[in-house]
Amino acid sequence: MPGIVLRVEGRPHAGRVALVTGGGRGIGAATARLLSREGAAVAVAARTMDEVSSVAREIEANGGAALPVALDVTDEESVAGAFERARAGLGPVDILINNAGTPGVPLPVDRMELSDWRRVFDVNVTGAFLCAREALPHMASGDWGRIVNVSSASARHPMAGMAAYGASKAALDQLTRVLALEGEPHNVAVTGVYPGVVDTRMQEESRAFPPDLIGKPLHRMFQGYSDFGILRLPEEPAELISYLCTAEADRLNGHIIRLEQLQALRE
Ligand SMILES: NC(=O)c1ccc[n+]([C@@H]2O[C@H](COP(=O)([O-])OP(=O)(O)OC[C@H]3O[C@@H](n4cnc5c(N)ncnc54)[C@H](OP(=O)(O)O)[C@@H]3O)[C@@H](O)[C@H]2O)c1
Repeated sequence: MPGIVLRVEGRPHAGRVALVTGGGRGIGAATARLLSREGAAVAVAARTMDEVSSVAREIEANGGAALPVALDVTDEESVAGAFERARAGLGPVDILINNAGTPGVPLPVDRMELSDWRRVFDVNVTGAFLCAREALPHMASGDWGRIVNVSSASARHPMAGMAAYGASKAALDQLTRVLALEGEPHNVAVTGVYPGVVDTRMQEESRAFPPDLIGKPLHRMFQGYSDFGILRLPEEPAELISYLCTAEADRLNGHIIRLEQLQALRE
């Protein structure tokens, strides 16, 4: 019957449709796989079709429903088209994971090009705004929706060379809080996550920046994450992201949650 979603134990997202931006690799791919194992049909969306197709095929091979979707979150038409393809292929989106993100090149402000600054904000902030705007009407009309914005501790912790990334993630956090207020009357909960330092392409690329370009302190920091075994697996933040879309997390709205808090939330 339309509108009725039956929950099955271990599959808290059964009957839901999720769209994961940046779903082709890293944290997004791990999240898409987990949401599928936990019952959701998943639109796996990003610019690199090889990657989103491969994740979608893997989900289907494991018995899940998935759709690869071409998406550039910075492009209004691309966002509208991606949601339309997801709706036509899987159904309207109930769960949106705004995961697509870029650190840009970590340079001090006096050496940063305006185009690089804008690019970071376009992907990390405007992309989340466009996707949320596209998702909200269906969520509100169905009186249920979950949006999780993948942020970063850089939003709170200032680091020299990380102005664009940190400021964009701080803006994303405030977008999360405002969306939470706007979604509340419609049972649309919006949360953010700080995923920790995670072993993904983003960290690989950060390690590859030469010290001459980004300065020795940042270079040493990125190397240190790897050398000292600090990097987490993408599956760890995926657990938190998925948890935030379950009924157990219904009390959370507008909260920004660190990976380390997951255990305590579950107790
Ligand atoms: N890894 C970490 O240590 C860490 C720490 C804190 C926060 N985060 C956040 O976690 C999120 C995921 O990053 P990750 O570490 O998993 O990095 P990643 O492996 O490099 O993945 C980034 C994803 O974002 C997608 N993306 C980038 N620009 C896009 C655009 N314009 N439109 C659509 N998709 C786009 C990429 O796909 P295409 O290039 O194919 O489009 C890719 O799938 C990001 O928001 C990042 O800021 C990561």
